[in-house]
Amino acid sequence: MYSYLEGRKFINPYIRRMQDYGDWILTEERAKQLPGQWANDIFASKNSLHVEIGTGNGFHFAHYAQKNPHVSLVGFEIKFKTLVQSIARARSHNCANARMVLGPVKSLTEYFAPNEVEKIIIHFPDPWPKLRQQKNRLMQVPFLLSAFEVLQPGGVLEFKTDHYDYFCFARSQATKTPFTLTSYSEDLHQSLWAKENFKTQFESLFLRKHQPIFYFSLSKYEGA
Ligand SMILES: C[S@@+](CC[C@H](N)C(=O)[O-])C[C@H]1O[C@@H](n2cnc3c(N)ncnc32)[C@H](O)[C@@H]1O
Repeated sequence: MYSYLEGRKFINPYIRRMQDYGDWILTEERAKQLPGQWANDIFASKNSLHVEIGTGNGFHFAHYAQKNPHVSLVGFEIKFKTLVQSIARARSHNCANARMVLGPVKSLTEYFAPNEVEKIIIHFPDPWPKLRQQKNRLMQVPFLLSAFEVLQPGGVLEFKTDHYDYFCFARSQATKTPFTLTSYSEDLHQSLWAKENFKTQFESLFLRKHQPIFYFSLSKYEGA
């Protein structure tokens, strides 16, 4: 799978470690061959498919896989280190229901078929704060439309950020799609969703600085 590494003098140690995880880590190319096939080809299970984009060090990813053994969980990361940390953490929790993909998500329809996914989780995506960088933000109409397409009727997209400008931007982008806003808080930890919330690594950093966490969820309603 990693023949392109042959002959290189320095290899990032996490690239070497990736190979230890075999089929638990999928390349972007492999994952793009799988729309409509994840249940059969990867999980050999009819369990619902949930997706986390940007798993970071995998605290939430591993917790979520362990807490939901009847869900098949696919995580996406673009960095070797966090990719390996995420799958290592899930494996150390004995989670057989989690896989990671090395690759950037731009459009979810590249990876999943219409109605294949039950839930999409996006926690603290890179905020790209400068005006000239905003084109790089994930939560924009084209991405949201791809999310809407791959979600089942009743499916949910969950979004958290510490960045108020990105939060307002993402909410405004969502209003230009067929999604329905179903939960919303400008201070998640003082809200009715606080109890069921799991703190991600980045969330803990912001909470230590007493920053509020912004949260919303979007639903694809039946018939939408
Ligand atoms: C700010 S961190 C948040 C990590 C984690 N969700 C948390 O809350 O602790 C954002 C993560 O998203 C990853 N990332 C950025 N763009 C991505 C993309 N297009 N697809 C997948 N992962 C991405 C980064 O490598 C980084 O690990």
